Amino acid sequence: MSYNIALNFEDGVTRFINCNEGETVLDAAYRNQINLPMDCSDGVCGTCKGSCQQGDYDLGDEYIEDALTDDEAGQGMVLTCQMVPSSDCVVNIPAASTLCKTGNLQTTGTVAEVNLVSATAIELKVTADEDIAFLPGQYVNIQVPGSSESRAYSFSSRPGSRELSFLIRNVPGGLMSSWLVGQAKTGDKVTLNGPMGIFYLRPVGRPVLMLAGGTGLAPFLSMLEHLKASGSSQPVHLIYGVTNNEDLVSVKELEAFAATVDNFTFKTVIANPDSGHPRTGYVTNHMEDAPINDGDVDVYLCGPPPMVDAVLGYFREQSIEPASFHYERFTPSVAAEEAA
Ligand SMILES: Cc1cc2nc3c(=O)[nH]c(=O)nc-3n(C[C@H](O)[C@H](O)[C@H](O)COP(=O)(O)OP(=O)(O)OC[C@H]3O[C@@H](n4cnc5c(N)ncnc54)[C@H](O)[C@@H]3O)c2cc1C
Ligand code: FES
Repeated sequence: MSYNIALNFEDGVTRFINCNEGETVLDAAYRNQINLPMDCSDGVCGTCKGSCQQGDYDLGDEYIEDALTDDEAGQGMVLTCQMVPSSDCVVNIPAASTLCKTGNLQTTGTVAEVNLVSATAIELKVTADEDIAFLPGQYVNIQVPGSSESRAYSFSSRPGSRELSFLIRNVPGGLMSSWLVGQAKTGDKVTLNGPMGIFYLRPVGRPVLMLAGGTGLAPFLSMLEHLKASGSSQPVHLIYGVTNNEDLVSVKELEAFAATVDNFTFKTVIANPDSGHPRTGYVTNHMEDAPINDGDVDVYLCGPPPMVDAVLGYFREQSIEPASFHYERFTPSVAAEEAA
């Protein structure tokens, strides 16, 4: 038996390794050609310290208090030279991937479909040439064909499939947007680097509130695919806001999730007050069904930076402190900002 271990490096890179029954994470990483930080490999120096975000494991009793205190162990910190997983795990490594002689995995893929799903959004489907393991909510950098630049896109498809999909805002004049709208065709080759990012669905142990702005819906579609496969007994509520009626996409998909994912509900919100939509304004104007639960809620927030900042401000003003808060800003690339 072996387990899938996601190693999240501090530069945002994630690498997946397989770890055999009874094997330490450090040994498994070296076997997978990833040189995690270590000095003694005996539980003495503490150099290999990281933290386990999810999963079950045994830390053994061979290490000394100087390397890892009981308090640290209680908070989920681990010594990778001692940690023996007994399930799939996600482990944070406080070092850059490049220092561990690993880096982003590069994968190629073939464009399967490019669909204009609204005036402002494009669905890109890519068939990867090899498996890309990712956590639901993570993203990859896709190189814009014919250029040396890349753009970040969250997977909207389910983990574990080579049929990848992305939901991409059509930014007029944008480098990737122009390629997608003007040139991309079935059969084109694309290069993907990743997966990356710390915005991913944690194990669902309490109510979940998902807040999406525009194409910030993408990672939630992947998370919902995951929940459909894994099941959830907790309430999961999504509030999905866009600017105008015509920007709403994937509503049929969301209705299908509501019918198949236990306890999943959603609502849409249109910012434009003249839209005629039953709910106008911002997502934070429509929190009445949100499972805030006196703060015992995991909040996931994704969208353009002004939307993310506004929602963060709302939570501060309302003094709501969720048990966990995860967010992703769809920040334009530095190259695009400089060119603007
Ligand atoms: C971690 C991460 C994940 C992301 N995931 C997604 C995703 O799943 N779907 C998605 O649509 N986007 C996503 N983005 C944003 C995406 O990477 C690109 O920035 C966006 O698609 C624009 O790329 P472009 O090449 O078409 O335009 P660019 O050539 O990058 O930009 C052209 C001009 O438009 C401006 N601009 C760029 N984006 C916007 C915007 N949203 N609103 C207004 N002006 C803008 C730029 O500043 C520039 O002046 C993500 C960004 C990050 C950091
Ligand atoms: S490498 Fe020294 S404690 Fe793990």
